Amino acid sequence: MHWLMPEIEAGELLLRPWQITDRDALCAAWQDPTIRQIGQVPSDCSALAAQRWISGAVLRAEAGVALDLVIDRGGHCVGEVGVSHVDNQRRAGLIGWWVAADQRRRGYATAAVRAFSGWLLSEGGLDAVVAEIDPANIASRRVAETSGFLVLRDGGATDTTVMVRRSPQGTARNPQP
Ligand SMILES: CC(C)(COP(=O)(O)OP(=O)(O)OC[C@H]1O[C@@H](n2cnc3c(N)ncnc32)[C@H](O)[C@@H]1OP(=O)(O)O)[C@@H](O)C(=O)NCCC(=O)NCCS
Repeated sequence: MHWLMPEIEAGELLLRPWQITDRDALCAAWQDPTIRQIGQVPSDCSALAAQRWISGAVLRAEAGVALDLVIDRGGHCVGEVGVSHVDNQRRAGLIGWWVAADQRRRGYATAAVRAFSGWLLSEGGLDAVVAEIDPANIASRRVAETSGFLVLRDGGATDTTVMVRRSPQGTARNPQP
């Protein structure tokens, strides 16, 4: 999988490439304990590290390693959606997301994840988008459900629940997870 950086409309939000001017928003997010908890945050969350991560986004997308986009509202970064761990044979990838603490409970994650996963399953070339959700993360479970993800493996009260959103074409081509 190789991606050129897209811009994806999601109602009042725009999913767009990272820019150096988003550095402080990224830094702040990396220091948020609830975002750190999901485990995709580098140990070095300095401004320089954020700048380096942003600078690498285009290369990661071109190489098919990851596609990371800003959830933008009115020109400001309010969160992130991304896909990584791409399995080219199954045409599947692992989606992740976060919304800045002061921007939550406004429907931003739901709108962004629905639009991004829909794009990945059409223009993005994937057949399946997988989400791994901690049982305590009620908000993310709702985000996934509302965005069209179905439970693939229920982790119950203690283990990670795995959810998947598939394209209709992908289901026909490759019915097994
Ligand atoms: C999870 C997260 C992305 C939700 O973002 P958000 O923009 O507040 O989500 P939304 O406003 O779209 O809300 C989605 C649903 O969750 C519910 N919700 C949001 N925050 C909640 C909370 N703290 N407790 C319970 N429900 C919550 C909303 O009411 C909504 O439910 P509904 O669809 O029944 O109306 C955000 O809390 C976050 O960034 N958390 C830390 C990072 C993280 O957990 N990432 C996901 C890893 S899989």
